[in-house]
Amino acid sequence: MSKLKGKWALVTGASRGVGRQVALGLAEQGCRLLLHARQSQHLGPLLEELRGKKVEARAVAAELSNATEVDALIDGVLRDLGGVDILYNNAAIMSPWRDAHTTPVDDYRNSFEVNVIALTRLCDRFLPPMLERRWGRIVNVTSGIQNIRELLPYSMSKAAVDRYVRDVTPSLEGTGVIMSLLDPGWLRTDLGGDKAPNAVETCLPGALVPVLLEDGAPSGKFYCAQDYRTDAPS
Ligand SMILES: NC(=O)c1ccc[n+]([C@@H]2O[C@H](COP(=O)([O-])OP(=O)(O)OC[C@H]3O[C@@H](n4cnc5c(N)ncnc54)[C@H](OP(=O)(O)O)[C@@H]3O)[C@@H](O)[C@H]2O)c1
Repeated sequence: MSKLKGKWALVTGASRGVGRQVALGLAEQGCRLLLHARQSQHLGPLLEELRGKKVEARAVAAELSNATEVDALIDGVLRDLGGVDILYNNAAIMSPWRDAHTTPVDDYRNSFEVNVIALTRLCDRFLPPMLERRWGRIVNVTSGIQNIRELLPYSMSKAAVDRYVRDVTPSLEGTGVIMSLLDPGWLRTDLGGDKAPNAVETCLPGALVPVLLEDGAPSGKFYCAQDYRTDAPS
């Protein structure tokens, strides 16, 4: 039986792309799921699929650039469940392609609000109940993007996520809570685009590795989902 059986997992951005794959993978492991998207309706097909498999799943909604909506989501989960066992911070936005020196301030603002500030808020508020229970897994999704100056707001936001994990994780040593970084690889999703070399399904099983870590494994590690592929590259 999976060691994750019955654990509550919140997956942000679960309606499509990587988040949908992660949700399906966690369901296979016996998790109960809180599926997030900007609007609950976006989660209808996945909810139906999971319930068809007798998986306990609920939809939660929040626009992650809106701090009030993020806090309302967290308040609701804390009230109903007391917290989550697994927080999978997957949702993110890609900034528009901009020629050098033309990036508007709002590109940076939007990227940081969704990709960094919401993520850190979710971590900071779900960590205390995990620490009390002395068990938790937090996965913050990052990216291997580099040297593309036209996408700097996106790549800088992911660098900030990396820095958050680097600076928070020393304090998690010995607590039972393990926080990790996960790069899913360049995938054909709405965010990754149709030129990406990898099908979205190839993020599994690697994307589950940081959730399945043994108790006592170190925090702050970087996992690349593509390293765990069992099939030939597509
Ligand atoms: N795809 C790649 O090649 C690639 C490479 C490296 C890293 N990543 C990372 O992998 C993660 C998932 O990417 P993906 O390719 O699966 O993206 P995606 O297909 O575009 O899916 C994005 C998900 O995030 C949600 N979302 C988008 N904007 C949001 C907002 N403002 N507020 C709340 N939720 C929002 C979407 O929900 P709605 O249905 O409501 O829109 C959707 O569920 C991201 O962290 C990304 O940076 C992806």
